[in-house]
Amino acid sequence: MTKALNVVVLAAGMGKRMRSRQPKVLHLLAGKPLLGHVIDAARALQPARICVIYGHGGEAVPEAFRAPDLSFARQEPQLGTGHAVQQAVPHLDDQAATLILYGDVPLVRSETLSELLKATGDGVGVLSVVLDDPTGYGRILRDSEHRITGIVEEKDASPEQRAIREVNTGIMLLPGNRVATWLAALKNDNAQGEYYLTDVVRLAIADRVPVTGVCAPVEWETLGVNSKSQLAHLERIYQRRQADTLMEQGVTLADPNRIDIRGSLVAGTDVRIDVNCVFEGDVRLGNDVTIGPNCVLSNVSIGDGCEILPFCHLAEGELGERCRIGPFSRIRPGARLGEDVHIGNFVEVKASELGDGSKVNHLAYIGDSVVGRNVNVGAGTITCNYDGAYKHRTIIEDDVHIGSDVQLVAPVTVGRGATVGAGTTVWKDVPPGGLVLNSKDQLHRPNWKRPSKKGS
Ligand code: UD1
Ligand code: CA
Repeated sequence: MTKALNVVVLAAGMGKRMRSRQPKVLHLLAGKPLLGHVIDAARALQPARICVIYGHGGEAVPEAFRAPDLSFARQEPQLGTGHAVQQAVPHLDDQAATLILYGDVPLVRSETLSELLKATGDGVGVLSVVLDDPTGYGRILRDSEHRITGIVEEKDASPEQRAIREVNTGIMLLPGNRVATWLAALKNDNAQGEYYLTDVVRLAIADRVPVTGVCAPVEWETLGVNSKSQLAHLERIYQRRQADTLMEQGVTLADPNRIDIRGSLVAGTDVRIDVNCVFEGDVRLGNDVTIGPNCVLSNVSIGDGCEILPFCHLAEGELGERCRIGPFSRIRPGARLGEDVHIGNFVEVKASELGDGSKVNHLAYIGDSVVGRNVNVGAGTITCNYDGAYKHRTIIEDDVHIGSDVQLVAPVTVGRGATVGAGTTVWKDVPPGGLVLNSKDQLHRPNWKRPSKKGS
């Protein structure tokens, strides 16, 4: 983009059919609000100004999106698309062309918008699409030489016009110096009593400004969201496209229709992902990583050769090479695992480092801890990190062996090479080497009778 550009995003509508208290454009697609997708497509064009028209839902929209490169104009009441763009005029550079986008048309690609900019020059550009079923859309009118002569809304259209299948996507480019004049000239003498932005096409033709139509290459990028069902439809389109991109990069997906990426997933070579996995935020997978079915990975980095077994939840952690996690493991924020670390079923690791070769395989909680190399933590072991007011650290040095069902009452240190016997409550530091255990006698009462119910 060499020429300066304004972008206006229309997002004032109420979206009644969403049946929600939330403004429509704040509903999420792939974990990001609809309007966020549109703003990102706009930003890719490097415009001088982006102005969002909001209205329904009060200040929720500006509050959700405040950013230095965005301005917001309130449209209240909402009197139509032309009236909406009029609210943006004071925010625009009147020397620059103005691109109109819809906050509820989230999948539009910046490549297609660039095509519209290129094709339009200094005139008016209309992004159209040909639909099998054009119901509800404004129809594109053309003359015998295929030049656009106007756009007629369905409610104002004759039966012949309604048969036209080329429709207005709503995305439009307007020349800078004319916008204010044309918008001021709009009238609302139509079936809906609205100020139609589409009427600028006729005003442009009257002013001998060329009107160019660009047909969107694929239908999905022009689809709007008006209902939860349409939202789900676009979500699947978006997810399938991401899955296709991953497969093109060499990732093996057990089923490209059963993966959800809500953010960005970067994968190395020979990565395999089984069904029903969800990736959130920034996830990085090294080479030769395997992810089993039904895992959720959120802002994690996974080293080469790691194996994540089924049903794991990993959030904000970092795994070194060749770790084996799961099934049913939980990795929480601040977990940093070295190489060849094994975390097994029903083990939770939070804000802890585990050194190379260490293993915590069954039913354990490791929190606020530093665990050295080649440590084995037995089943049922818990770091008691919380005294009810403060969190304390547990340090387990290299080559320690911790038996089953041990409580480590932090702050506490277990010295290098020490062994902790099963069932021990460790509440004092353990020196390196040797064995530590609590003295508990094992009693036996040979004639003891188990309680039994009366009469049995
Ligand atoms: C509009 C177009 C129609 C096109 C269709 C594509 C006009 C007159 N009609 O139809 O040709 O085929 O989009 O979907 O432009 N909005 C506001 N303020 C308003 C009215 C609307 O911000 O006062 C916003 C809505 O939030 C929405 C967008 O503009 O994002 C389109 O509004 P909508 O009512 O869905 O479109 P139509 O007017 O039916
Ligand atoms: Ca409308």
